[in-house]
Amino acid sequence: MRKSVLAGNWKMNLTKAQAVELYSAVSDSMEASSNEIIVFPPAIYLDALNEMKRNVSLGVQNFYFEEKGAFTGEISVTQVKELGATHVLIGHSERRMYFGEDENLLKNKVDAALAHGLTPVFCCGEPLEIREAETQLDYVCKQLEASLFHLSADDFAKLILAYEPIWAIGTGKTASSDQAEEMHAGLRLFISGKYGTELADNVSILYGGSCNPSNANELFSKTNVDGGLIGGAALKPEDFLAIEQAF
Ligand code: PGA
Repeated sequence: MRKSVLAGNWKMNLTKAQAVELYSAVSDSMEASSNEIIVFPPAIYLDALNEMKRNVSLGVQNFYFEEKGAFTGEISVTQVKELGATHVLIGHSERRMYFGEDENLLKNKVDAALAHGLTPVFCCGEPLEIREAETQLDYVCKQLEASLFHLSADDFAKLILAYEPIWAIGTGKTASSDQAEEMHAGLRLFISGKYGTELADNVSILYGGSCNPSNANELFSKTNVDGGLIGGAALKPEDFLAIEQAF
């Protein structure tokens, strides 16, 4: 049985006091949740949140794959792990787009995270022109192939995937539940071709892109949508809780 996962990507938002307040509100309201809840705060707040840590896991939005050394400005997987991170976002479209993260770098990040026992939440998704050309499944399958298909089945089974169509991120324009289901089912089939049906059936695939309390129910009702990676709505505890209750 694959697990239901709700993840909040706080991006480059919040003061430290706001982050502490949000983390506390999220963990209080989801104390009894049977789903896996993860938040990705700005890494500089990790230590403070780790001190208060309850049943909401912590992750980082970025890290560098080398363990240490002369990489000015970067933080390593061992450093974030020491501060309580258990999950890492890899392949988010904003990192691919604004910071030039390419498939090879993503592959190295996946390997580094797994080598240190952190769970990658690997993001994939197509830009608008690819959706308009109706080649989205092929495009996203290639993203998985390029950065993940070197993994052994045991390692692949440790991943969480997040399908996030770029045209839906932060735009208020969400994919319809049918569009999400079609992509998730297609990705699962593609994964089963490489790793077998049992493994593919057990991988959690989250949807991300303008997911909010009014569309979460419909999205999560789909067989192949196992949860959400939430941006904007994760900054409001009442919205994040309402999304969690949509499971
Ligand atoms: P959004 O962001 O929910 O604000 O669209 C999702 C994401 O970027 O993970």
